[in-house]
Amino acid sequence: MTNDAATLEETTVTSCARPATPEDVALKGRIQELKDQWGNKLVILAHHYQRKEVVPFGDFVGDSYYLSKMAAQQDDAEHIVFCGVHFMAESARILCRPDQRVYLPNLRAGCPMADMVNDDQVDDAWDWLAEFMDMSKIIPVSYMNSAASLKAFCGANGGVICTSSNAEKAFKWAFERGEKLFFFPDEHLGTNTANQLGIPRDERVIFDPLNPPEDPEPFKKAKVLLWKGYCHVHTNFTAAHVDQVREQYPGVKVVVHPECKEEVVDKADAVGSTAFITQYVDEQPPGSIIAIGTEINLTARMADEYPDKTIFELSGQNCPLCVNMFRTTLGDLAECLEDLGKKNEIFVPDNIARDARKALERMLELG
Ligand code: 13P
Ligand code: SF4
Repeated sequence: MTNDAATLEETTVTSCARPATPEDVALKGRIQELKDQWGNKLVILAHHYQRKEVVPFGDFVGDSYYLSKMAAQQDDAEHIVFCGVHFMAESARILCRPDQRVYLPNLRAGCPMADMVNDDQVDDAWDWLAEFMDMSKIIPVSYMNSAASLKAFCGANGGVICTSSNAEKAFKWAFERGEKLFFFPDEHLGTNTANQLGIPRDERVIFDPLNPPEDPEPFKKAKVLLWKGYCHVHTNFTAAHVDQVREQYPGVKVVVHPECKEEVVDKADAVGSTAFITQYVDEQPPGSIIAIGTEINLTARMADEYPDKTIFELSGQNCPLCVNMFRTTLGDLAECLEDLGKKNEIFVPDNIARDARKALERMLELG
């Protein structure tokens, strides 16, 4: 079925998951039993992109900003289980108390965008820039989707972390402290944020770590230096998708995540973090038609939760699935709780945690 031929009914996402099996029912019962046994000594954090059968076990469900804030506020919990991806659990580890323990139920759940930047690349970029710039005037800003060591780099160099919900605040924060900012690893969040702040295009430059620049001139002129990284889930949405849904469904509202390309964001009605998207959907009146440009499990859950609204994913043809978020199954969660304290624990070396914490706390202060 081509997108053109699709009808409203056919493109409406209701579910991405298979129906529950007797094994699923048993796993759910076991997870609940273990949760009850641990009581307030256990907290489960679940990101909005988690499978719909995993989400209800979250004591807190939200975007990466909210969940990191919750991780920092759990006074009673001895164990924090993060149903999400590695950088989220690592950030929770850094922000919670040293005596608390943090787990990721599926240790293979990473983030390909976070892997598009590493310590050596940033050190090399920094050294190269230092050959012709005063580095005390450049503020490093890392997206939450990055390794703890890069968050530590920001902490040690007067920088800050941001999420999709506070990138604008983080950019402003950086410009109050320096003349330029160096943002990694999401070029698109960086571009969309620069657009929101009205930073002219000739004051931005892209740093491609796979093809490092040789000409310093554009970097001397730029105010915003953007790492060439991207999320393969969000960059699949196109401006043509927005045009198509507007043509097919007059009155449709289009809401997208800021990891989408700028031409998609420019054509959307609203842009924001996963928490913003859930709130936006909630605020639309019954009968609304809403196309969402983000990960499919969130869209599918919204479609289930709001049967009085017609909700579907923006592309209508690519299934925008984050396979890493999808890795965490009921079985993984049950096993993690069963063996709490014995496996799936996340560790961050003290020296890295100390500097990363500075940058993360600055982020929490931004709100
Ligand atoms: P949020 O911070 O909006 O939850 O996004 C996290 C993420 O990884 C989006 O792809
Ligand atoms: Fe990473 Fe994209 Fe998955 Fe978010 S949706 S965790 S940015 S790969």
